Amino acid sequence: MGFMTWNYFGDNITEQDVMSLTDAMVTSGLKDAGFNYIFIDDGWQGGRDNKNNMIPDSKKFPSGMKALCDYVHAKGMKIGTYSDAAPLTCAGYTASLNFEEQDAKTFAKWGFDYLKYDYCGAPADWQTAIARYEKMAKALKNSGREITFGICEWGDRSPWLWAHKAGGQLWRTTADVRDKWKSLKAPSKPEDLHGSGAGILDILNINGGLHSYAGPGGWNDPDMLVVGLYGKKGPSGDLGGVGCTDTEYQSQMSLWCLMAAPLMISCDVRNMNEHTKKVLLNKDIIAIDQDPLGKQAERKINNETWQVFVKPLSNGDIALGVLNASDKTQSVELDLGALDIVGKSRSFDVWEKTKSSVKNKLKLTVASHETKVFRLSK
Ligand code: GLA
Repeated sequence: MGFMTWNYFGDNITEQDVMSLTDAMVTSGLKDAGFNYIFIDDGWQGGRDNKNNMIPDSKKFPSGMKALCDYVHAKGMKIGTYSDAAPLTCAGYTASLNFEEQDAKTFAKWGFDYLKYDYCGAPADWQTAIARYEKMAKALKNSGREITFGICEWGDRSPWLWAHKAGGQLWRTTADVRDKWKSLKAPSKPEDLHGSGAGILDILNINGGLHSYAGPGGWNDPDMLVVGLYGKKGPSGDLGGVGCTDTEYQSQMSLWCLMAAPLMISCDVRNMNEHTKKVLLNKDIIAIDQDPLGKQAERKINNETWQVFVKPLSNGDIALGVLNASDKTQSVELDLGALDIVGKSRSFDVWEKTKSSVKNKLKLTVASHETKVFRLSK
């Protein structure tokens, strides 16, 4: 859980930004709520020195990366960096192919705790991708520091089948999220989302079916939270990213938490409105995301209107999520037994904070694009 720079800043990111974002994570309460990482994405790099060591852009990061890592650590946070398994990154900066060992040691020496490793400019076949990710995973293991490894090849080679074994702790499952609910034209193949831009629902349609691949130590990553961006600049605004409604942002938080997703905020946390704070700081939904059992919700119902998710929790409770994906308010009566939910008599609505008793049936009215989430217990 943390903040990732890409969606809002693109490659236009400086040490001043990283420091002020770190401060805002602490003062806003996000750090205490669990968002304890700052992830620097593409655009920090300034090439290599005469010994081929990677160096940061000296205009954007004049104090150097060690000083920045120290700053973030002193605030009780962790910090991530970014590179790519090719000569250049997606935005055209220096990357790590053939320098894996050296770069991993450099990242470790600076004090980074996380590496997002992208796949632009690399061959399309699976074998090469797996080999390149394995190579960097091994280099990180030998770097002298514990560095979490995020694999980012956008789901194009079904990484849920191999990324954990290759040494990744999380793997992107889709094209980049844009700040929109859904693509106007439904993509015929998941890869088409690179061109049309993936909205919240497009990503849910892919990641929602991958529950059996996620678990402690290896997670499906459906990309950043767009909560609170409201169509405000940055790459998330490309490809139709005009912004979402408050209901849709709250839905993304609900659905990502049900899917046990890594939670990477991308709006400007220095300037959040009340709704954004309410959504990102809801400890009951975060507890569902971070539940130690580490199960991704299973999607039990999936049709044009309804998507229903069931996530077992460590204390025996069940999180139940109900999305109305249609364009109007709808009512439904759910048969809990048919969802394999038995022996639960109490229900807690994690957004409304209301408690009620339940029998075998749950009657609901759900607004368009809203996701209701309940914690069901004995
Ligand atoms: C790719 C990734 C994004 C971001 C950019 C940076 O598109 O999928 O998340 O890291 O590269 O250039």
